[in-house]
Amino acid sequence: MNEHGNRHTTTRQGGTAVAAKPLKRKKVFTETMLSVRDLHVSFKTFGGEVQALRGVSFDLYKGETLAIVGESGCGKSVTANTIMGLLPHPAGKVKNGSVIFKGRDLTKLDKAGMRKVQGVDISMIFQDPMTALNPTLQVGEQLTEGLRTHQKVSKADAKKKAIELLNVVGIPNPEERLKQYPHQFSGGMRQRIVIAIALICEPELLIADEPTTALDVTIQAQILELFEEIQERTGVSIILITHDLGVVAKIADRIAVMYAGKVIEIGEKREVFYDPQHPYTQGLLASVPRLDLKEEELKPIEGTPPDLFAPPIGCPFTARCPFAMEVCDKVHPPTTELTITHAVDCWLQDDRAKNVFG
Ligand SMILES: Nc1ncnc2c1ncn2[C@@H]1O[C@H](COP(=O)(O)OP(=O)(O)OP(=O)(O)O)[C@@H](O)[C@H]1O
Ligand code: SF4
Ligand SMILES: [Mg+2]
Repeated sequence: MNEHGNRHTTTRQGGTAVAAKPLKRKKVFTETMLSVRDLHVSFKTFGGEVQALRGVSFDLYKGETLAIVGESGCGKSVTANTIMGLLPHPAGKVKNGSVIFKGRDLTKLDKAGMRKVQGVDISMIFQDPMTALNPTLQVGEQLTEGLRTHQKVSKADAKKKAIELLNVVGIPNPEERLKQYPHQFSGGMRQRIVIAIALICEPELLIADEPTTALDVTIQAQILELFEEIQERTGVSIILITHDLGVVAKIADRIAVMYAGKVIEIGEKREVFYDPQHPYTQGLLASVPRLDLKEEELKPIEGTPPDLFAPPIGCPFTARCPFAMEVCDKVHPPTTELTITHAVDCWLQDDRAKNVFG
C-alpha cells in the first residue's frame, strides 16, 4: 500500500518488475453519520398550509460532501433548517419522518436538547456573513463564545484556539484581528470568520446554505478551496446547498437533486453529472453553462414547479416533463435503485409504468 492507501501494482516487462503508476485514489465513504427519513415539513400561512418537504430521505456519510441542488423553493433550506432545529415556531412543523444523528432523532429533541447539538455537533453557515456576525462585538468574542458556553474552556485557551482557527481559515495577523469588528473585514474575510466560528467547537457536520453566493467569483473559489482543506484536515462531513452546479462539480462527492419538496435523484457526482436519469436533472444540467456546450445551446426548463399548497399526487414534474406518460400524474413514481449509489424517482425507470393504467 502507498501513502494514499492504494495498492501499487507491478507489471513484468522483459522479465523485469516495473512499478506501475499508483491508482488514483477514489474516496470511499462507508460510515453513515446522518439519516434523514421520510421527512415531511409544513408551514401554516394565511393562505393555507405549504407542504415544503414531502418525504425527503437521504443518508450522509462520515467525511463526505453531499451537495443539495434544485430550483428556488424546492426545499433545500427547509431541509437544512429542519436538521439544525431552526424551523420557525409555531409556523413550521415536522409532520412526519426522522433525522437520526448519533442514534438520536433530532426532530424529537426539545429546545435545550437541540441547543447542545447546534454549533457543537452540527454547525451551519448561511449565505450572508453579515447576518451571522454581530456588528457590535469584536470578532474574538464571537469566535470564543461557543467554546466558552459549550465547553467551559478558559479565556486564555479559547483565545489560543481562536487564533489557531483564524490561521486555518487564512486570516493574516490573527492576534490583532481578534480585536476588530466585522465591518473592518472584507466580505470574503467575513465569510472566513463565519466558517471559523462554525468550526471552533469541532463539529462533525457542517451545513453550508449557499455559502458563496454573496461573494465575487475569485473569493468564491478561495472559500471552496477552504472547505476542501478543512475537510481534509478534520474529516468533517459537509452538506452543501447551492444553485451553482460549478460549485458542485468542484467539491461534491455525491449530489441530491430536489424538486417540489422531494429528493428526485441522488448519486455519486459522476453518476448525476454524466449519467442523469431524471428528466428534471437532465433539464437542470442543460440549463447551465458547460465547457462542452456553446452558450446559445443552453435550454432553460420551461414552466414552473407545482404549487406546494396543493401539491400533485403524481410526479410533481409531470407538467414540465417532455416524457410524461398517463401514469405520471396519477401515481407518484417509486424510487428505482439504478446502482447501489444512484437512485431516481421516475416512471421511465420502472417497467411497471405500462401496466399501471393498462
Ligand atoms: N417560514 C416560511 N413560511 C412559509 N413558507 C415557507 C417558509 N420557509 C419556507 N417556506 C416555503 O417552503 C418551500 C421551500 O423553501 P426553501 O426555502 O427550502 O427553498 P430553497 O430550495 O431553499 O429555495 P432557494 O434556492 O430560493 O433558497 C417554499 O415553497 C417556501 O415558500
Ligand atoms: S415520472 Fe413521468 S413525468 Fe415524472 S419525470 Fe418521469 S417521465 Fe417525467
Ligand atoms: Mg434556500
